[in-house]
Amino acid sequence: MSFGTSIDEETSFALLDRFVERGGVWIDTADCYSFWASDTGHGGASEEVLGRWFAARRGARERVRLSTKVGAEPLWPGSWPEHRAGLSPRAIHEAVEGSLRRLGVDTIDLLWLHQEDRAVPIEETVEGLASLTSSGVVRRVGASNHPAWRVERARAHAATIGSMPLDALQLNSTYLRLRPGTLPPGVVHPFGVLSDEQRDFAEANGLETWAYTPLLSGAYDNPGKSIPEVYDHPGTSRRLAALASVAAEHDAQQGQIVLAWLLAHGIRPILGGSKLVQLDSALDSAAIELTADELALLDDAV
Ligand SMILES: NC(=O)c1ccc[n+]([C@@H]2O[C@H](COP(=O)([O-])OP(=O)(O)OC[C@H]3O[C@@H](n4cnc5c(N)ncnc54)[C@H](OP(=O)(O)O)[C@@H]3O)[C@@H](O)[C@H]2O)c1
Repeated sequence: MSFGTSIDEETSFALLDRFVERGGVWIDTADCYSFWASDTGHGGASEEVLGRWFAARRGARERVRLSTKVGAEPLWPGSWPEHRAGLSPRAIHEAVEGSLRRLGVDTIDLLWLHQEDRAVPIEETVEGLASLTSSGVVRRVGASNHPAWRVERARAHAATIGSMPLDALQLNSTYLRLRPGTLPPGVVHPFGVLSDEQRDFAEANGLETWAYTPLLSGAYDNPGKSIPEVYDHPGTSRRLAALASVAAEHDAQQGQIVLAWLLAHGIRPILGGSKLVQLDSALDSAAIELTADELALLDDAV
């Protein structure tokens, strides 16, 4: 997300190189990254850095899978979230053209609808995606920050017209649970946080679930960052105590246990580290095997 804005190009390349060296496969970006941190007020810097990295590293495009997102680019600087590109077929096609150009690639392995656009019937959005998946420019489609019912409606329409259904959800998810009625800092999407219903929907229908901001931007382990106030309730003390105890057992960072816990529940965390040491620590967490007792301790702390 931050490549080319708060993370400079040299560091971005080093992180990408290490990720691939260590067997990393999926790279997640968006056409709008990171408009809020850019001088222009527009996104595109992250995709451009990736494009230059693909050009500089022979064979890299074939080694990885690439996901990007459409729909959240501001129409003009400062216009997000009220005025954004949205999910009309025309907006989707224009956005994909821009992403392919910045990335310097011919195909996108997974295209995410970045956030809901209730001004456009979801059936029209599905029809906009259909021509991209049937031509092979887009290999898979997923939905970020959408409620389960809209995703199901989109999948039903895809079945009716014989196009590829949305098969993945990308939502905010971590170990701590929010106070009801709140949203994490920076999240404006009313259905952006993985709910029990979305999880059940994904499991029952075989959709992948990807988790964004799993490390609370570093707040589990960085003493300079605090756990956001929206997690302030009695269950959080119990969850943090369980996390500390399991982390001590494994001589691991708390964030590593959060990632291992998500993986144990079949949820794919998306990493956003700014330093090699953070990336290494996150990748190491994939090897942490939580015992049944540890999982029960973590799950039951509510
Ligand atoms: N679909 C959506 O709407 C949406 C929204 C947000 C994000 N995303 C996706 O999810 C990705 C990850 O999101 P995120 O950056 O919010 O995730 P995150 O993992 O919660 O935060 C990443 C930040 O955590 C800190 N960190 C990482 N490892 C650490 C460690 N071992 N110790 C201490 N601090 C550590 C770093 O902060 P410092 O750099 O300050 O050290 C890093 O930049 C993004 O790149 C993007 O692809 C999607």
